[in-house]
Amino acid sequence: MRGALRQVEQALERWVPADAPAGLGEAMRYGVLDGGKRLRPLLVRAACEAVNGHADAAMRAAVAVELIHAYSLVHDDMPCMDNDVLRRGKPTVHVRFGEAAAMLAGDAMQALAFEVLTPGDASVPPALQARLCALLSRAAGHAGMAGGQAIDLANIGRALDEAQLRDMHRRKTGALLEASVLMGAATGASDPSAWTELSTYGAAIGLAFQVVDDILDVTQASDKLGKTAGKDLQHNKPTYVSVLGLAAARDEAQQLRRAAHEALDRSGLADCAHLHQLADLVVDRES
Ligand code: IPE
Ligand code: IPE
Ligand code: MG
Ligand code: MG
Ligand code: MG
Repeated sequence: MRGALRQVEQALERWVPADAPAGLGEAMRYGVLDGGKRLRPLLVRAACEAVNGHADAAMRAAVAVELIHAYSLVHDDMPCMDNDVLRRGKPTVHVRFGEAAAMLAGDAMQALAFEVLTPGDASVPPALQARLCALLSRAAGHAGMAGGQAIDLANIGRALDEAQLRDMHRRKTGALLEASVLMGAATGASDPSAWTELSTYGAAIGLAFQVVDDILDVTQASDKLGKTAGKDLQHNKPTYVSVLGLAAARDEAQQLRRAAHEALDRSGLADCAHLHQLADLVVDRES
C-alpha cells in the first residue's frame, strides 16, 4: 500500500491551500500534512479496489475523510476538550497558532472536505458526489463523530457500562472508519449483501480502532505515539481499559478482528487482500 499512501500524501498536499487568508492556510496545512497514519484514506482506496470502483472519486473521498479526521483531532486537542499539547509528534495546532486559529482551521478543513467531494466538472457523476457527501456528513455529525465526542466530554469521571461505552466509541471513531469503507464501496457496484458485509467489516474495525487507541494510551510511550500517553487515566475518561481492564480490552480487539475478516470472507468480493491487511494493521499497530 506504499504507492497508495504516497498518492494520498500528494493529493492532500495539492488540496490544502497555502494561500488561505491571514495565516489560516498555514494552520490548516500544519494540521493535515506531515504526519498521520492515513488509515482512513487507505480504507477508502482498498474498498474501491474490492469493488473495482471509480479511482478519481475514491481519491477525492480519501482526501475528504482525512480532512474530517484531521479537523476532529485539531478540535479534540483544544483546551476546551482534551487539552493536549502533542499530536503527530509536534505541538498541537492551538499551541502553535492559538485557539481561535485552531478552531477556524478545523472549521475550514470540514468545509474543504465537502468541496473536494463536489468538483464542478464532470469528473465524478453528480449522483456519486451526493452519495459520498451523504455518507461522510452522517458519519461526521451528531449521529457519528461529533455526537460521540459530546458523549465523551459529558461522561468524564462517570462510570459507563459496556453498552454505553461501545455506543460512544462507535460514534466518535467507528463511524468515520466505517464511512471510509462505504465511500470506497460506493464508487463501484456491489450487490446488497456485499454492501452489508463491508458495513459489518467497517463497523468492526472502527470499534476495534478506538479499543486499541484506549489500550495504547496505557501501554505505549508518548514518543512512540506522537501524542501524550497516559492522558485518559489522568483526565478520568471512560475507556475500554478503565471499564473492562486491559486483558478484556485486548480480547475484544481480537474478537473484532475476527469478525472483520469473517465479514470479508462472506462478502464474496474477490479483491479484499488490502482490506484484510488493514484489519490486521488496526489491531496490531503500535502507534
Ligand atoms: C487518533 O486517530 C484519534 C482517534 C480517532 C482514536 P489516528 O490514530 O488515526 O491518528 P493519526 O491520523 O494517525 O494521527
Ligand atoms: C478522539 O478520541 C476521537 C476523535 C473523534 C478525535 P481520543 O481523544 O481518544 O483521541 P486521541 O487519543 O486524543 O488521539
Ligand atoms: Mg478525545
Ligand atoms: Mg484526545
Ligand atoms: Mg485516545
